[in-house]
Amino acid sequence: MNTKLGKKINEGVSAEIFEWENNEKIIKLAKSRSYSQAMVTEYLNSQVAWESGLSVPQPFKMVEIYNRLGIVFERIYGNTLMDHFLNQSLCSFNTKGNIRGMNYKDVPRITAKILREAHRRSAENMPFQRRAIICSIEEAKHLTPSEKKLVLDVLNSIPIKQQLCHGDPNLNNILIRDRDNKALLIDWMYASIGNPEADLAEYIITVKYGKSFKNIPGGITDCINPIREETIKAFIDEYTKLSDITYEDIDAWIMPMAASRLSAGIIKYDEQRLLVGEVRKRLRKYN
Ligand SMILES: Nc1ncnc2c1ncn2[C@@H]1O[C@H](COP(=O)(O)OP(=O)(O)OP(=O)(O)O)[C@@H](O)[C@H]1O
Ligand SMILES: [Mg+2]
Repeated sequence: MNTKLGKKINEGVSAEIFEWENNEKIIKLAKSRSYSQAMVTEYLNSQVAWESGLSVPQPFKMVEIYNRLGIVFERIYGNTLMDHFLNQSLCSFNTKGNIRGMNYKDVPRITAKILREAHRRSAENMPFQRRAIICSIEEAKHLTPSEKKLVLDVLNSIPIKQQLCHGDPNLNNILIRDRDNKALLIDWMYASIGNPEADLAEYIITVKYGKSFKNIPGGITDCINPIREETIKAFIDEYTKLSDITYEDIDAWIMPMAASRLSAGIIKYDEQRLLVGEVRKRLRKYN
């Protein structure tokens, strides 16, 4: 038995999160060897984010236990922004007793601010975003080869930027620390250098169409519906205030990012159908 490994705290698709060593650290441990490379990538990306002064948990080191690779991070005591988001909706079954009240605009404002901070940076030796998005679109389920080609043509007409992007900006990846209400961005596995609009579009799509919230028992996402649109509007208002990126710049990325999301294994069929609808609606403009 490993004496540093404590209680399991949480679990994602690729890893489990355990207490580590003392109350100050956690370990994010890959579920299997097949995620080893992804762990190394996340560790390197997290170091880039930490060293550039972003609000992220400190990454300490990589460790291998039971043939599984893990990253030791600073432990953050708090709730995810998803917990706060659900707390505002009518999903009261999910409400955590200790959650601080937030205004309905706080969740999108916090997201916009923390993403903007990342996007202000550039970094070296990071993966290229465009290449990864092209691969995902090529692998998208439910789109025909000619639809994919058209989406790729649209994507390739957008000039490439060189800014630090998170790559998985969903509400479970932002933690709000109890002691000072500070927001921290976690889970840098898919970070890259590229266009911030890709992160923004991805966030908007997950809020608009997300049906795969692991915090909500299967299929009961209706309670979120009343706050989806206002959350998106507040997010765009805040981000465009903080940067010179416009609504139109972000909108141009909705179709490519909706198509790229169709390659993700964890997306439920209902959500896939909505994403295909969004892509086809926007493609009509080009036919
Ligand atoms: N440094 C940390 N301190 C405290 N809790 C953490 C920390 N890092 C992660 N967690 C908890 O574990 C959860 C999953 O973390 P993370 O997103 O890094 O894992 P993942 O396997 O990539 O998950 P997913 O597949 O859902 O994105 C977080 O939502 C959070 O609740
Ligand atoms: Mg995550």
